[in-house]
Amino acid sequence: MPIVIKVLGFSVALTLVFTIITNLLPQVEGEAPVEKTFDPGAFTEESFVLLGEDLFKGKGTCTLCHNNMGRAPDILARNMVETAAERLADARYQGKATDAESYLRESMLEPSLYIVKNYGKQGSKSPMPVINKAPIQLSDIEINAIIAYMQVKDGNQMTVALPTATPTEEKTTVQAPALAENAEAAINQYGCTACHAILTSESSIGPDLRNVATRLSSAEIRQSIIEPNAVITEGYSPMMPNNFAEQMKVKELEMIVQFLAEGAP
Ligand code: HEC
Ligand code: HEC
Repeated sequence: MPIVIKVLGFSVALTLVFTIITNLLPQVEGEAPVEKTFDPGAFTEESFVLLGEDLFKGKGTCTLCHNNMGRAPDILARNMVETAAERLADARYQGKATDAESYLRESMLEPSLYIVKNYGKQGSKSPMPVINKAPIQLSDIEINAIIAYMQVKDGNQMTVALPTATPTEEKTTVQAPALAENAEAAINQYGCTACHAILTSESSIGPDLRNVATRLSSAEIRQSIIEPNAVITEGYSPMMPNNFAEQMKVKELEMIVQFLAEGAP
């Protein structure tokens, strides 16, 4: 075989290997957060709903809990306008909402006002985070976009008003979550505390992570996070989200693994 072809073959193989490796690693270390800048005056109903869907599945972290695993009502599978009407008609409802739009907004801003049956006791604190506060901290425009998405996805009419351009043509920026500063921040950002006893959380949906180093090696901890269903811890059901590998940056994953492997406080 002529040498040039051998060399070419080799570099093609190398390129392939690199492509496979980079495809395995969800995001390149330290990758700058994707910033989407939009002009509030330029929205159509369609693009506003798309923004809402993006926020619901991404920055808003809603799908972490709202999925088909039973941790929270499966919003994607339910018609939320009909659901809102049922909630408002419930004798236990004590909030101030009067229609679907105000119910959906209230669910995000004051989740503890009304606790959906089987997800906690009425009068106790909802497991759902307050969406306009840290760490999720969505703006009013972003919250409206999510309401629009929840209305339109099942063919209901969008009732929220499209944002209007400010006279100064000010641009609004939707920022993808930045790289977490340290392991604690990453653990909070990815909602591990919703299910595990770790940091200030005493949740017992999943195993206690404060002493996970006594059970698992670093490699096993890493696998438990990126492939949670590969090994199911005895006595627990397989309900850990299996998309952390897509969401986390490599650096965040490694910070969390190291923190847990060192016997997190
Ligand atoms: C940490 C888990 C968690 C996250 C993250 C979360 N929620 Fe929730 N949410 C819940 C739980 C649990 C309930 C049911 C308890 C309650 O009514 O407060 C709920 C209730 C709701 C309800 C009322 C549902 C109904 O059937 O009446 C809406 C609407 C809602 N969430 C929207 C959202 C949106 C939008 C986001 C993202 C911006 C989000 N949630 C993020 C856990 C979560
Ligand atoms: C919706 C609930 C939920 C969330 C959120 C969640 N986990 Fe889990 N996790 C579980 C459950 C349940 C198990 C046990 C079943 C299994 O092995 O999948 C588990 C297992 C684990 C294990 C193996 C523990 C052992 O002792 O075998 C590790 C490590 C772990 N999770 C880390 C994390 C980290 C880190 C995060 C955040 C990035 C996280 N989990 C988010 C529910 C969750």
